[in-house]
Amino acid sequence: MRVKDTMFRSIWIDGESLNIIDQTQLPHEFVVKELRNSEDVRLAIKNMLVRGAGLIGVTAAYGVWLAAREAPRGSLADFDTYVNNRARLIAATRPTAVNLVWALNRQLEKLTQARTVEEKISLAKLGALGIADEDADFCKKIGQHGSSLIESLYKKKQTTVNVLTHCNAGWLAFVDYGSALSPVYAAHDNGVPVHVWVDETRPRNQGASLTAWELAQHGVPHTLIADNSGGHLMQKGEVDIVITGADRVTRLGDVANKIGTYLKALAAVDNKVPFYVAFPSSTLDMSISDGTTEIEIEERSEDEVRFVYGRDPRGNYVSVQICPDKTRAGNWGFDVTPARLITGLITERGVFPANKVGVSDILGDADGRN
Ligand code: MRU
Repeated sequence: MRVKDTMFRSIWIDGESLNIIDQTQLPHEFVVKELRNSEDVRLAIKNMLVRGAGLIGVTAAYGVWLAAREAPRGSLADFDTYVNNRARLIAATRPTAVNLVWALNRQLEKLTQARTVEEKISLAKLGALGIADEDADFCKKIGQHGSSLIESLYKKKQTTVNVLTHCNAGWLAFVDYGSALSPVYAAHDNGVPVHVWVDETRPRNQGASLTAWELAQHGVPHTLIADNSGGHLMQKGEVDIVITGADRVTRLGDVANKIGTYLKALAAVDNKVPFYVAFPSSTLDMSISDGTTEIEIEERSEDEVRFVYGRDPRGNYVSVQICPDKTRAGNWGFDVTPARLITGLITERGVFPANKVGVSDILGDADGRN
């Protein structure tokens, strides 16, 4: 996607070096950082230099490549043990987004096909490139399917379509295009007038710092709103459609996404506003059914809630405490929206109902329907 006048992906390799955009520096600084080894990859995911379900998965896939490159050149068994251990440490960084484990498993499985160390390194690189390209391709298709929903709303109302989104499920959360924002970009590029209400998304403010930044780079009209404004805007008829991303989707269509998503879905149902969730099929977890009891919700540092970080009028970066010294905070990163509140699931294969049949149809899995 476009940054100033240059096209970027959120992660790429240049010869033998792996590069990312350091998302902790946005929206104020655009910093490209090289990840030199699998420990750099682990820390980049853990400390959220890269974040978002799709991008976490792709970064982890490249982490397997770097682990293979740095692994001791002893026996094949020693090599495999090293790479598997590094993958296990990377998997432990963030528990909710299933793309992380999905990508690591796909890479480790691929490596079992090779018979020499050199072959394994080369397969790991090819595997990561394949996962990255597939992610971008699937997100592009999500845009094509989802933009038709925005276009039909425009045909009906003949004036700007207002989309509300939560957190960042744009191209920064994937390799390119994004999930929830991909339909917005596609509609905008097709000349459909579209405006986005951007939830700030406390506590880490991915809406304010990342979604607003992305949309501005692409020239999409948008307005930043405090997290609790969505219900009010829906009551006033100011929201035509809600589209969010997903970090894990169960076989029955329950969705784990950034904390606060569930409340938006409740407000949307009460106001008869269509609520869609966009994700590539790598976000499906067919091993679980009930999202509210079976998905592990990441708990993060209480200081993310107790402090707010930003730039002061002099351009200095500051962290400001917003509660009394001894006040404790709770910080759950995600919540679960039950399938019954979701109008539809937008995927690379099309738009499906959020239920058992819809989810198995995403995978073309006739057996899963029963
Ligand atoms: O904690 P993050 O920033 O990695 O959160 C993930 C997300 O970006 C959101 O939950 C998003 O809506 C789904 S991931 C594309």
